[in-house]
Amino acid sequence: MGLESVLSEEIKKLGGENIKIAKRAVIYDGDLELLYKSNLYLRSAIRVLVGITSFEAKNEDELYKKAKEIDWFKYLKLNQTFAIDTNVTSDIFRHSKYVAYKVKDAIADKFTKAKGRRPNVNTYNPNAKFNVRIHNTSVEISLDSSGTSLHQRGYKVDSLDAPLSEVLAAGILLNTNFSEKEYFMDPMCGSGTLITEALMININMPPNFMREEFGFMNWTNYEDRMWKDIKENAKNSIIDPSIKFVGTDISRKAVFATKKNLSILPYGNDVIVNKKDFFKINKCQENSFIIMNPPYDIRLKENEITEFYKRIGDKLKQDCAPCDAWIFSGNIPALKQFGLKPAKKVKLMNGKLDAELRYFDIYS
Ligand SMILES: C[S@@+](CC[C@H](N)C(=O)[O-])C[C@H]1O[C@@H](n2cnc3c(N)ncnc32)[C@H](O)[C@@H]1O
Repeated sequence: MGLESVLSEEIKKLGGENIKIAKRAVIYDGDLELLYKSNLYLRSAIRVLVGITSFEAKNEDELYKKAKEIDWFKYLKLNQTFAIDTNVTSDIFRHSKYVAYKVKDAIADKFTKAKGRRPNVNTYNPNAKFNVRIHNTSVEISLDSSGTSLHQRGYKVDSLDAPLSEVLAAGILLNTNFSEKEYFMDPMCGSGTLITEALMININMPPNFMREEFGFMNWTNYEDRMWKDIKENAKNSIIDPSIKFVGTDISRKAVFATKKNLSILPYGNDVIVNKKDFFKINKCQENSFIIMNPPYDIRLKENEITEFYKRIGDKLKQDCAPCDAWIFSGNIPALKQFGLKPAKKVKLMNGKLDAELRYFDIYS
């Protein structure tokens, strides 16, 4: 939520047509090639779904009946496996598992009636993964071309306690213009999600270049040649970084994780990663782009966390000016205690938590 316009821009650049922003989704038209490219290139998308049908259903029987009318044979063969994923926000359909059962029954019964047998369910690596989205009484059924969530980029080998989702980190960065600066700095880098995503944006590397599996690879119409050509093209379009990347963190474990994650990426070993307490940094590089996702630790007492955020604001003013500073946090009351006036605010969510991205233009 909150990244819809960023995502629609990405889709436009990729060549999507008839782009419409919906609630927590962007809808567009395109061919098979664009579908493959969407999975490879979209940084702020969690999954790419191909619409099958949409209808209204007022109860579970109606959902079952209408789901049974779908020509499932177009998407699934008898000897293939399938799975059903659901996103349900409705006062009528309260149990997403039950929604999944109803649609599964509709598919199974349709096959059994026509062919005497039915395809099996496989939740781990199905040939076809269907997505059922219900908002109140509106039902949308689609085919999930991504398989597992696209935040699983394939580069993360080490993770810490509170890492940002790669999709959210990329979406945050696409709200900024960090590539215009000479230095990119994350002084509380954790496992390095913001740096790795920023590096990939800067060198024009698709976010899912390292990922090996996508849902569409299990489809009968999978065009391996087309996919390989798209990847080859992407590989040849990777460029040298135009900025210096620096990541620091007070925790040795975090520094180790960031280095490990970066080491898999092109130019990842050129990133400077050090153990440092942000409050003890002498001076930041002048004219840096600084981004951080400070702890919003619920374990800390409220006054401690508020004081912590205030110290970050003071430190930025004293030792980092002039710079562009972007702070992302799920602790909005603490963000308000920053002691600086934000030039921009973007409302986002971190999982189920309300969060905000704030931009501070810090002068000397
Ligand atoms: C919410 S995590 C950052 C997560 C990171 N964005 C990621 O995706 O992995 C906050 C980080 O701030 C670091 N931190 C806390 N106090 C710090 C300080 N004084 N100086 C530097 N880093 C600090 C913690 O060690 C932790 O790794």
